[in-house]
Amino acid sequence: MKRVLMGSFLAVVLFGFSAQAADKKIERLFNSKCSACHGKDGKGQTEKGKKMAVRDMASPEFQKGTDEDFKKAILEGFKAEKDGVKQEMDSFKEDLKGPDVDAMIKYMREFKK
Ligand code: HEC
Repeated sequence: MKRVLMGSFLAVVLFGFSAQAADKKIERLFNSKCSACHGKDGKGQTEKGKKMAVRDMASPEFQKGTDEDFKKAILEGFKAEKDGVKQEMDSFKEDLKGPDVDAMIKYMREFKK
């Protein structure tokens, strides 16, 4: 019985560690690949972000985009013209794959708090 308890305790601790490591990886990716335009805080108050009228990721307006919309932007890029402002984002399918894409979407949902 003790051994079983010890085993589950270890499993929980190890799982916790790997989940934390995964979050760190996504945070690093966001800060290196996305923050030039979106800002580390997601507010878009960077030189490039302002130039392209990038929306605040914490705003309801941004957050009303569905997971599918976000996924599409990450994998296929984003191109639009809004009030004469060109908005362009490259595809990040080489940097973010499979579960990383979903983890990144989750990361961006955290900004709304
Ligand atoms: C070169 C600048 C630039 C970089 C780098 C960039 N983006 Fe964007 N992103 C934009 C612009 C411009 C828009 C469109 C305006 C807006 O939605 O605020 C946009 C929109 C988005 C959207 C909204 C899509 C929608 O349909 O609602 C998401 C999600 C997004 N970006 C995620 C990311 C992620 C994740 C990264 C990093 C892997 C990233 N962006 C890197 C410029 C950039």
